[in-house]
Amino acid sequence: SARTIEGYKAAAARAAIDLVQPGMRLGLGTGSTAAPFVEEVGARVRDGLNVICVPTSEATRNHAEALGIPLTTLDETPHLDLTVDGADEIDDQLRLIKGGGGALLREKIVATASERMVVIADDRKLSRTLGSHPLPIEVVRFGLKATVQLIQALSAEAGCEGEIRLRPGEGGRPFVTDQGNLIVDCAFPKIAEPEVLAFALTRVPGVVEHGLFLGLCDMAIVAGANGIQVLKH
Ligand code: A5P
Repeated sequence: SARTIEGYKAAAARAAIDLVQPGMRLGLGTGSTAAPFVEEVGARVRDGLNVICVPTSEATRNHAEALGIPLTTLDETPHLDLTVDGADEIDDQLRLIKGGGGALLREKIVATASERMVVIADDRKLSRTLGSHPLPIEVVRFGLKATVQLIQALSAEAGCEGEIRLRPGEGGRPFVTDQGNLIVDCAFPKIAEPEVLAFALTRVPGVVEHGLFLGLCDMAIVAGANGIQVLKH
C-alpha cells in the first residue's frame, strides 16, 4: 500500500513532520495530501508537542479540531513559522498551481504570513510547464460574466488561451468558497510565463485571488515509486 498514491501522500506528510519544532506557529494546508499531515500533527500533539496552528479552510479547521490540535487565527497570530500544504502542480522553480480544493485564497494568505512554506505531494504533481491542471481563480459573484470576459482577454494577452468554466457545486448550484465567492477554472494548456499571467490577473477587479503561487514555496517534499525527493531553491 506504500506504492499507491495514498501511500505517497502519507510518506510526504511523514517527511514534513520532521520540520515541525516545539513552540512553532503552523499553517495547516487543505486537501487530500495536507490531511495526513494534519493527522501527524494531531498524533504529535497527543504525545505532548506544543504547537499552535492556523487552518487554511473550514474543512481543515474541523479536521484539526477533531484531533485536538490547538488552533489560533491570523488575527491573534499574524506571523507563522511554517505552513505545510499540498499543491495541484509544481514546476522546477517551485512555482505552484493551487486551489483544486477551492481553498486558494486562505491558503495564499496563510502561506504569505509564514516564514516558510513547504509543499507536500506525490510525483504526479511535478510538471515542466504549469498548465496540466486548470488554474483556479476566485471571483466575486457580482459581474461574473464581465469578469470572465476580462480574464479571457487579459490572459490571451499574457499568452494563455483555453476554456474558462464556472466550478459547479452541489444541486446544480455553483461551488462557493469559504469566503462566499465563486471559482472559475481556466484550462490554459501551457502557462509559459506565470509571472506575466499573474500580473495580468491583478488587473481584473472581479478577481479576488488566483491559484498561481509564485515566490511563496521554499521547499517541496515529493514522494513516488523511487522514494522521497526534496526540491529547494
Ligand atoms: C486546495 O484548495 C488546494 O490548493 C490543495 O492544496 C490542492 O488542490 C492539492 O490537493 P490534493 O492534495 O488533494 O491533491
